[in-house]
Amino acid sequence: MYLTEEEQKMLDGENGPGCKFAMEILVAVGDAFGAEKMVPVRSAHTILSTYKGILDAGVEAIEQFVALGAKAAIPTTTDPAGMDLERWTEFRVPEDYARKQFRIVKAVHSLGLIPCWTCTPYLAGLLPQKGDHLAWTESSAVVFANSMVGAYTNRETAVIDIAAAVTGRTPEHGLHLKRNRLGNVLIDVQMEKMSAEDYRIFGYFMGKKAGARIPVITGLRKTDRIEDYIAMGAAAAASGGVALYHIVGITPEAGSLEEAFGGNEPEKRFSFSLTEREQTKHDMCTGGGGDIEAVMVGCPHYTITDIKKAAELLEGKSVRKGLQFWIYTYKSIELLAERMGYKSIIEKAGAKITSDTCMMISPTELWRFKTVMTDSGKFAYYAPSQVQADVVFGSIEECVTAAVEKGRPV
Ligand code: F3S
Repeated sequence: MYLTEEEQKMLDGENGPGCKFAMEILVAVGDAFGAEKMVPVRSAHTILSTYKGILDAGVEAIEQFVALGAKAAIPTTTDPAGMDLERWTEFRVPEDYARKQFRIVKAVHSLGLIPCWTCTPYLAGLLPQKGDHLAWTESSAVVFANSMVGAYTNRETAVIDIAAAVTGRTPEHGLHLKRNRLGNVLIDVQMEKMSAEDYRIFGYFMGKKAGARIPVITGLRKTDRIEDYIAMGAAAAASGGVALYHIVGITPEAGSLEEAFGGNEPEKRFSFSLTEREQTKHDMCTGGGGDIEAVMVGCPHYTITDIKKAAELLEGKSVRKGLQFWIYTYKSIELLAERMGYKSIIEKAGAKITSDTCMMISPTELWRFKTVMTDSGKFAYYAPSQVQADVVFGSIEECVTAAVEKGRPV
């Protein structure tokens, strides 16, 4: 592939062995994908930061970058860690696991990454602009950046993300090319009103129908809650492989149907009405009828608005004995929740806010829950495999009802 003079110098080792190692990885990846050149990237987001996701091989890989003297050349944020970095013992994380996670934390600091430990880096200080090229991992962040911001990123993988952070480059292929960003399938939403829960259900439906194609959505009303788009995209990226969607009249590359499809005809057409909503919600639940043992919300990480809502619903109530109610977010939001009094309301009710991690990339399967409940379309999709539990999906209101009353809410 073509390399600029500066990139060739990196490959030749003139910027040190860490940068040379990183460029070698990117050239190999670029060749594999048939990329003609590299593209400079404004920021990177890494998942080489969670022990549960990368295991021993990943720890060794990130430490190898450190040993070679690599440093991030561009702003690079970290996905959630594999455990709550302060209260990991409360969550029954084994010591050996924690030791390895702390090795990753040390490497993250050595590389000069931004340790925000969240899957919503665009809310935690790294908001890209339209047209920026990025090297982001984390499917929920990628779909948000591509779709809602109009930035350009592929769904990068661990190691490539760090290589991009160190060089400030990634191979130009896939969604970095305008021609690959046109819609393929059309989904017409036929709902008068959409609740927060409906956006999550719709996202799940979208992923199932679109797979890895690019859906163009018509009929979807604009929502004031950014959380709806975040949760919708996360569900679509999980149940399918959606990395980019267009909402006609709302998202940056879809001023019109014509623009979103680039004049092409959709390969398939779907509609989403109350009927599809009911069927999809049913499909999102695998629960076999047992009592819910844990409620886990905050996937993607809860915003302060989400936490406010949870606190209002939990205020004056008590989570029933033996049930775990965990709200996942990142540290600065937890601090804000503390300042605003939401944290004490939540704790008084018997629930917990936990930071820097999430239900899927921390070892929650060790709790051996039989049935868990969530308001997240993404977690509903992954819970059976990642937590090895049946799952009940519902709104946050239904989650709180299930937590405070005996029995099942839906
Ligand atoms: Fe974020 Fe964990 Fe969900 S990384 S999107 S909270 S699975």
